[in-house]
Amino acid sequence: MKDAHGRVIDYLRISLTDRCNFRCIYCMPEDGVCQLAHDDILRIEDIERLVRVAASIGIKSIRLTGGEPLVRKGVVDLVSAITATPGIENVSMTTNGVLLPAMADDLKRAGLSRVNVSLDTLDEAQFREITRVGKLEDTLAGIEAALAAGFDPVKVNAVTVRSLGQDFLAFAKLSIDRPLHVRFIEYMPVGNASGVDGCGWGKADVIPSEELFELINEQAQAQGLEPLRPAGGSRPIGWGPARYFEFPGAQGTVGFISPLSRHFCSECNRLRVTAEGRIRPCLFSDTEYDVRAALRAGDDEGARAVLYEALGAKPDEHHDKVGTERNMSQIGG
Ligand code: GTP
Ligand code: 5AD
Ligand code: SF4
Repeated sequence: MKDAHGRVIDYLRISLTDRCNFRCIYCMPEDGVCQLAHDDILRIEDIERLVRVAASIGIKSIRLTGGEPLVRKGVVDLVSAITATPGIENVSMTTNGVLLPAMADDLKRAGLSRVNVSLDTLDEAQFREITRVGKLEDTLAGIEAALAAGFDPVKVNAVTVRSLGQDFLAFAKLSIDRPLHVRFIEYMPVGNASGVDGCGWGKADVIPSEELFELINEQAQAQGLEPLRPAGGSRPIGWGPARYFEFPGAQGTVGFISPLSRHFCSECNRLRVTAEGRIRPCLFSDTEYDVRAALRAGDDEGARAVLYEALGAKPDEHHDKVGTERNMSQIGG
């Protein structure tokens, strides 16, 4: 299915819940957000219907997001149902990893294709500062569990924020000895988790990927490593906007996701749906289309019409508007 700008749209990101067992400072305010009532979020059968309808108009890849998708009850069975949907080729998940030690094997059996784990620092104290409540060892255990369960590729998403002073080389080096694909994401100042109401960061905290790339290479060379080169055969499977590099001989890769410094809107392939069933044509636009009513009424035609309406409303690009009314925890990244 193509949008009005000729882009093929075959990827749907579904937020399963706005709840999370972390409170990352760039993602939600300290006291959490006003959580959706149970009745407001899409039921599991609504999501299954949405996937069937989306597949019927050309969606091939589904990513489950949150909040934290693994806190949603029934998530393993939902993965089974989605993977069994005709037309769906790939089902992936973005998670903070905490529940992976308990769930990775079941998710793998249910047919989940890939997991991306969010981890922004390898320093324990800094991890607590960023997540407010999380423990580094829990997320590291989640990454190990994903590898042990046989997920491939396993990607690690690190949001980069200038004033945090993260050790980026330490992160990039995770890709050398293990088949891990580390991706640095430019921090996006969105929602009220940023600005005066939240962590207080602004655009000055965005580290453009090119600058980070240079920095990592300088530090790597100072340690006797060869610089990053474009990833060839080892480039991981993905449907997203990351650009991949590798240290020569490394098992994994180092990717950069640059929503601010490199507009990848012309390559955009996706729609998003929030936990309460609103389709967002663009991450950075607060225009939304309600698909919940049609799903709950069992009205496939109606749901299809809403998807087409949202598709038709996809803007050509975000025109430097990066703010959103919602926090990232409500959109799912
Ligand atoms: P794969 O490459 O298929 O593994 O997935 P992905 O990179 O699309 O998924 P993931 O959830 O790991 O995305 C990583 C982060 O990249 C997102 O959470 C966003 O922060 C950012 N991102 C992904 N897609 C977009 C997009 O379309 N626009 C913007 N601005 N940011 C995006
Ligand atoms: N800027 C960039 N990335 C963000 N994420 C959450 N909030 C932001 C933000 N403000 C990332 C998470 C996760 C993905 C779903 O989105 O770290 O990897
Ligand atoms: Fe939870 Fe992910 Fe947001 Fe952190 S970034 S609070 S782990 S949803």
